[in-house]
Amino acid sequence: MVRFTVKLNVVLFSSLLMMFFLTSAPAAQETGEAGEGVSEAVLKLGKRVYEVRCLVCHGEEGDGNSFVKVIRRSELSGRIIETYPRDFTVGVFRFRSTPTGCLPTTEDLIKIVDRGVPRSFMPPHEKSLSLEERKAVVEYIKTFSERWEEEEPCDPIEVKKPDWVGSEISVQKGKKVYKDMKCWECHGYEGKGDGPKADKLKDDWGKQIWPFNFVTGELKRGSSPENVYITFTTGLDGTGMPSYEDSLSEEDRWHLVSYTLKLMGLVK
Ligand code: HEC
Ligand code: HEC
Repeated sequence: MVRFTVKLNVVLFSSLLMMFFLTSAPAAQETGEAGEGVSEAVLKLGKRVYEVRCLVCHGEEGDGNSFVKVIRRSELSGRIIETYPRDFTVGVFRFRSTPTGCLPTTEDLIKIVDRGVPRSFMPPHEKSLSLEERKAVVEYIKTFSERWEEEEPCDPIEVKKPDWVGSEISVQKGKKVYKDMKCWECHGYEGKGDGPKADKLKDDWGKQIWPFNFVTGELKRGSSPENVYITFTTGLDGTGMPSYEDSLSEEDRWHLVSYTLKLMGLVK
């Protein structure tokens, strides 16, 4: 009887030891993945915030496969738009300040966590989490993709809005750019998201995606002139919406902003 207990204790002890190694191994790996300067304590806090606030949509593994899976929103036109919580394991982001193909900056990610993504029902967290918690959760989501180990984000694109943006002349010039650059193929002749290609678009992962309807929506990243400018300058990676940084002059891009502000009813 005595011998049996001793044996049992040994078994118990060694399985406890195993558990210790099993659980501590991934933690050590995570520290390595976060790059320099991010402490284990920050990642631990980030993980805790993630599990409470993000996991329900973005998933335990960060692959977007969780309880929610897909968010459906119906527009007044009757069109149903399906949006999928971002899969962080591929390391591709839409709402960046950096050129197409680049990682976003840490500030870009904090901004998204702060304000959420309006038309996609990702909630804002600026008021419900402290800055320390928001920074920590951003560092934690970087551990889901190796891209963050291998690359640095590029420099943000400079945005300096000229005074004439929104003027009548600029709106007219922008209308021509919209036509010449074929924004209408996807966004429609009057910006209603109903161009000839609109119902055939797929994102990089084969899911249907609808172009923005300028007439009824707020931009996902916020509808300021600067945000419109940065959207078609950087492109929305993974969505098929290209970057026009190389194909349009800075001046024409600002005229285009004027025209889209007109489409959105934000200027006369
Ligand atoms: C209710 C579901 C939901 C919750 C909760 C949620 N998200 Fe999201 N998130 C989404 C959806 C949906 C998208 C995709 C938005 C789109 O592309 O239109 C998204 C996109 C993102 C993106 C990608 C933005 C880009 O530029 O591509 C980041 C980063 C992000 N979420 C971080 C977080 C973090 C961090 C949390 C927790 C603090 C969180 N999300 C909580 C639904 C959610
Ligand atoms: C190949 C199709 C395609 C073309 C061409 C295209 N877009 Fe887009 N655009 C999209 C898609 C798809 C989205 C929606 C992405 C999303 O919901 O995440 C979008 C979204 C947008 C948004 C809203 C972003 C946000 O934050 O919600 C703006 C602004 C925009 N496009 C402007 C333009 C302008 C201006 C042009 C022409 C210079 C243009 N697009 C050309 C497909 C296209």
